[in-house]
Amino acid sequence: MDTLTITRYDIPVKGVKKKTICHFSDVHLTAYDDLSTPEEREKAIGDTQGWMDTRRFFAEKYGCPTGEAQMADSRLQFSRLLALANTADGAVITGDIMNNVTPADIRATEAGLATLRVPFVAVCGNHEQAKKLPDGLLLSMMKQPISVVDLGDLQLVGVDNSDRIITPTQLAQVEALLAGGKPTVVALHVPMLTPDNYAAVYGCGEYFRMNDFDGCPPENDRFRELVSAAPVVAVLSGHLHFQCVTEIAGGVFQYGVSQGITGNVHLYTIGE
Ligand SMILES: [Fe+2]
Ligand SMILES: [Fe+2]
Repeated sequence: MDTLTITRYDIPVKGVKKKTICHFSDVHLTAYDDLSTPEEREKAIGDTQGWMDTRRFFAEKYGCPTGEAQMADSRLQFSRLLALANTADGAVITGDIMNNVTPADIRATEAGLATLRVPFVAVCGNHEQAKKLPDGLLLSMMKQPISVVDLGDLQLVGVDNSDRIITPTQLAQVEALLAGGKPTVVALHVPMLTPDNYAAVYGCGEYFRMNDFDGCPPENDRFRELVSAAPVVAVLSGHLHFQCVTEIAGGVFQYGVSQGITGNVHLYTIGE
């Protein structure tokens, strides 16, 4: 696990028994295996090479290392991240596990998730899309517009915002989930734009944010207000491929984890 870049955060929350949550994102699996067709295999090899360049681009842009550990195969990174998650009390995966949702990507993701021995929430990334995902598997959780894992005194709520839209139904479901007052960790793929991350995120282009763009539905902004206050204790996001941790409002932070394909991961100690 010394190959991973682990950042730890303490989130004190009264009334929650201390627990550790592991969060990673953007592994961008480009898998092939014995069941892959020659065409699938060729495309996966090309995309794997492409992601060597893309991950290096993001890492170098943000001053992160690009050594052997960071450039390891995405399937190896996934297994390292899952192994760390198994040392925690719960896991949150904020999308783009798969790059293309090929049959081999699905097999690799499912095999990885099957190794998890802790409760987890996995949300859809823009590289995945709910309609492409099969039913009846562990990864099918990513098809759900809203997913919930109850850890007793803390709940993990996954929100599919992979198309940068919060629907009225999703908003109503989140409102209902928060109305109970249980401390809540919200997981989404595309980060929210906030006053504190404006300088870092706005200039990346609207592809990288879920607020303040032409045609942004009012539900997106209402959602941001809703998760800016108790009982929400943290919002976890991915998609940016760089680390971006900023206050949303009132002491609630959005924790954007950098790309899992180079081994980045967050560990949160939540509770008291
Ligand atoms: Fe990504
Ligand atoms: Fe993404």
